Amino acid sequence: MAIGITRVAKKLFIKTYGCQMNIYDSARMADVLAPLGYVSSGTPDDADMVILNTCHIREKASEKVYSELGRLRRLKEARPTSADPMVIAVAGCVAQAEGEEILRRAPYVDIVLGPQTYHRLPEMVALATRASDRRNGRGRGVLDTEFPVSNKFDHLPGESAPQGVSAFLSVQEGCDKFCTFCVVPYTRGAEFSRPVAQILEEAKRLVDQGTREITLLGQNVNAYHGLDEGGCEAGLAQLMWRLSEIEGLARIRYTTSHPRDMDEELIDAHGELDKLMPYLHLPVQSGSDRVLAAMNRRHTAAVYHDTIAALRRARPDIALSSDFIVGFPGESDADFEATLALVRDVRFAQAYSFKYSVRPGTPAGTMEDQIPDPVKNERLAALQEILQQQQNAFNASTVGQTVPVLFERAGRHADQLVGRSPYNQAVHVTAPGKLLGALAMVRIDSCLAHSLGGVLTDSVGSAFGRPAVEVAEGAGV
Ligand code: 5AD
Ligand code: SF4
Repeated sequence: MAIGITRVAKKLFIKTYGCQMNIYDSARMADVLAPLGYVSSGTPDDADMVILNTCHIREKASEKVYSELGRLRRLKEARPTSADPMVIAVAGCVAQAEGEEILRRAPYVDIVLGPQTYHRLPEMVALATRASDRRNGRGRGVLDTEFPVSNKFDHLPGESAPQGVSAFLSVQEGCDKFCTFCVVPYTRGAEFSRPVAQILEEAKRLVDQGTREITLLGQNVNAYHGLDEGGCEAGLAQLMWRLSEIEGLARIRYTTSHPRDMDEELIDAHGELDKLMPYLHLPVQSGSDRVLAAMNRRHTAAVYHDTIAALRRARPDIALSSDFIVGFPGESDADFEATLALVRDVRFAQAYSFKYSVRPGTPAGTMEDQIPDPVKNERLAALQEILQQQQNAFNASTVGQTVPVLFERAGRHADQLVGRSPYNQAVHVTAPGKLLGALAMVRIDSCLAHSLGGVLTDSVGSAFGRPAVEVAEGAGV
């Protein structure tokens, strides 16, 4: 369909919930709407279009979206009748899961679109704002929650807004793992990997715009198997080797990975690929084989341990992060103890932990032996206590080290910049503004609750994250 392009600036406000994938998608939605004259705005108050880019992973996600929609309705209705009505769109995983129900419960919503169809947003906006329909009060909501054959990544505009020093790049989407607690396979659909050439092109564009660090994104990113220029499948390690050839790109990271897909090539890359940072988020969820089986995780605690050991052989200073769920249906005290034992053995630099909560439509939701909330609370507190101790110990272990820091933004104080260590820690440093976007060696000299402090040094070190000072293995608690 041909779409009339208007250059009159209209204000676009996107509220993003959830993961980095959604942050990436929101930026792409802004890109596809830019040719229609939409310019990002920091507030919904006077916006011409508001998009809620929703996430279904947290508890009561849908209810939170409906209450936000209630607030937007009041804004929409308060607009002067002389002005064009505010366009309200619901995107992302809640839109995918709820579909038509959103238009039924919130008829003032104009557009409902799933995560796979945002490239069709201009068409949807045109349909939703057709003047004649609106004048006649017939503004029907537009629903598009298909998993289309034609891929959204093929329709991204050649131009995109700069993303800054550190940027996300989506390389893989969807998941075929079907963990029994998780909605992702239903909301994001089957696993899909973008072709290598398309990713390289986007990466080069980002680097041209000033990006120095790229985090490759995917719900199951290490299952990446995109086609290369010769039509052969490339794994994530191969993709990262190709990306590392881009001059000006200093750092590569990737998230989120599944233990089953940590193949040898990828583990080796952690030892050999200088631009790949020594930090890995590798969710384990539980340390009990019985619970892991009920979760359909397809790995045991021993497999996880072996993978960590191999990673540490390849890159001894690698910092590890994970996700945990406590109170999964049927989890006994002994199962939970097994989780604590795994945590003590592995020693994480950082972690996220959650109480299990039912996601409608997922197998675990109807399992017997749901765990009472007070038990979940107790387990979560015990787990978080040890994870916090480990995080503190890891941060403390970096004090005294000199590490390369990539400066990403200005700090709160004058002459202060904030950057990231190779281990993904925020580091606050007194440094001139001209170092924004640059790598510099920093001696870490203090450790605060959520960040580190450091001073610039003129010591020579690899810009790519090998420690100038040897790191003691682990930071045991
Ligand atoms: N209950 C609690 N936590 C969950 N997660 C995913 N689904 C659920 C659920 N039903 C957590 C997992 C996952 C992270 C993104 O969210 O730990 O790795
Ligand atoms: Fe969900 Fe991750 Fe399991 Fe896929 S691998 S089903 S995204 S928890």
